[in-house]
Amino acid sequence: MNTTRSKTLDRVLVLEMVRVTEAAAIAASKLTGRGDEKAADAAAVEAMRAALNNLYMDGTVVIGEGERDEAPMLFIGEKVGSAIGKGPKIDIALDPLEGTTICATAGPNSLAVLAIAEEGGLLNAPDVYMDKIACGPGYPEGIIDLDKSPTENVRALAAAKGVEPHEIIACVLDRPRHQKLIAELREVGCGIMLIGDGDVAGVIATTNPDTTIDIYMGAGGAPEGVLAAAALRCVGGQFKGRLLFRNDDERARAAKWGVTDLDKQYDLTELARGDCIFAATGVTDGSLLAGVKRKGHVMTTESVVMRASSGTVRWVKGEHRI
Ligand code: FBP
Repeated sequence: MNTTRSKTLDRVLVLEMVRVTEAAAIAASKLTGRGDEKAADAAAVEAMRAALNNLYMDGTVVIGEGERDEAPMLFIGEKVGSAIGKGPKIDIALDPLEGTTICATAGPNSLAVLAIAEEGGLLNAPDVYMDKIACGPGYPEGIIDLDKSPTENVRALAAAKGVEPHEIIACVLDRPRHQKLIAELREVGCGIMLIGDGDVAGVIATTNPDTTIDIYMGAGGAPEGVLAAAALRCVGGQFKGRLLFRNDDERARAAKWGVTDLDKQYDLTELARGDCIFAATGVTDGSLLAGVKRKGHVMTTESVVMRASSGTVRWVKGEHRI
């Protein structure tokens, strides 16, 4: 990767990030399949916050559980870490339980997710939708573009891959708002993997040939877009995102977080700049990671932690004695 390694991030042990996502995943896993999204999310949030407060840093949550008046913990702007005012200044994007419904219904691909960068390195994305398109590494730069139609994007990717468009598989969130997109993709003839939730995993899946997913398309949460972009900065691949606003209130929220160009198509490096670290632990089994399992007095976790400046990807299996 052509990013300069950050001394600030050096001081925060990369593997410490895994402790944080592990703690959130274990807490959420105790509520897997219980049908209570709120309780699972609250457990993950509390565990992640406690673990973050053990890290030597002056951390600021830039993407969190919501604004201060709507989220009691890990709200945007909340300071975390054990060295506030004296440690390295770190920006944090987090989702302690990405896929709350998945966890509550014991479906696939719910994760505890965290990304960090130096101060100012992560886009302060408001909690609105983002139009997203992503593909894995190895394609010419700019092959995917939100200003092109889904048909053009699929055809371009197929040509670069040396296959027919009907051999391309697209991952799309199963939502009524994607009816037109899905109809167009059916017209092109490509395969569509519809997912119920969890587009961070959906985007990252494009980078793993085992998933057979070539391209991710559609609108999902903007915070999840920044998290997915941080992951792709580390493992390669392309991602474009454009914020979508449904009303003036959402536009005002964007302005509050310093977003001035509302129509901008963001590239990877504009969503997650400089060196950044991404970590995730599986809560339920998924394409990226196995979920938390309990065998007797031992809980097992599977996590990944990756760094943009070095391109290092570490897979971490944990055994936690209860
Ligand atoms: P939560 O973890 O907040 O439930 O988000 C799950 C998710 O599927 C995200 O992965 C995705 O970006 C977003 O919801 C899509 O939003 P919506 O459910 O409103 O279509």
